[in-house]
Amino acid sequence: MLTVNNLGYWYDQQANSLFENVNLSFAPGESYAIVGQSGTGKTTFLSLIAGLDKPKAGTIELDGKSIAKIGLTTYRQRHVAIVFQSYNLLTYMSPLENLMTAMSITRSSHQGDKKYAQSMLRQLGITDEQMTKNVQKLSGGQQQRVAIARTMCCDAEVVVADEPTGNLDEKNTAEVVRLFQKIAHEQGKCVIIVTHESEVAAACDHDYRLAHHLFTVER
Ligand SMILES: Nc1ncnc2c1ncn2[C@@H]1O[C@H](COP(=O)(O)OP(=O)(O)O)[C@@H](O)[C@H]1O
Ligand SMILES: [Mg+2]
Repeated sequence: MLTVNNLGYWYDQQANSLFENVNLSFAPGESYAIVGQSGTGKTTFLSLIAGLDKPKAGTIELDGKSIAKIGLTTYRQRHVAIVFQSYNLLTYMSPLENLMTAMSITRSSHQGDKKYAQSMLRQLGITDEQMTKNVQKLSGGQQQRVAIARTMCCDAEVVVADEPTGNLDEKNTAEVVRLFQKIAHEQGKCVIIVTHESEVAAACDHDYRLAHHLFTVER
């Protein structure tokens, strides 16, 4: 269980805080959408959850242990996987090499297991031919599926995604959302997706809205 306790954040040059006294919990095996207008602080919130930045107030705990205590570097390596709008794959590598590298860096329990990486890519509709080509030869939808396969190969129990369908068409969006649901329900991971697309939010198990410096639970 990931919990945020009295979380607050502001950028030093801003007059008001982005959010304050946020108390939320995110359970394993469930998916969460975070919605809200542009500029409300959704990406900032996700960067705190992902251990990329430190809160100005409050704490974030994973299974009762603060991520500051776990150490942000260890937390980022072992416990959290990130999916970006722009895929962020290693562009000079193939899909298979991207997965093998991620499993090695994160010291995944599947580290070195090429067959496992291949089976993840196949499950996500990447063909044997595609998985050994340079990733830049793949379409946007295919690259995002590789980025999702990469999170599935790592042991990270928390998966966060920032506008993961922002560059995708309707068909690929639906497919990507289905895969995130699978990661939550079949792999038992905690999936947190920032989105401005109502169809994406509606497909998640829970829907949190950030507005006027506060989070509200819509569903
Ligand atoms: N590194 C930064 N330094 C200063 N202000 C920032 C920085 N990043 C974002 N902001 C500001 O903080 C607010 C929230 O940004 P962000 O978290 O990206 O919102 P969202 O993802 O909801 O669109 C915006 O007003 C943005 O301009
Ligand atoms: Mg954003």
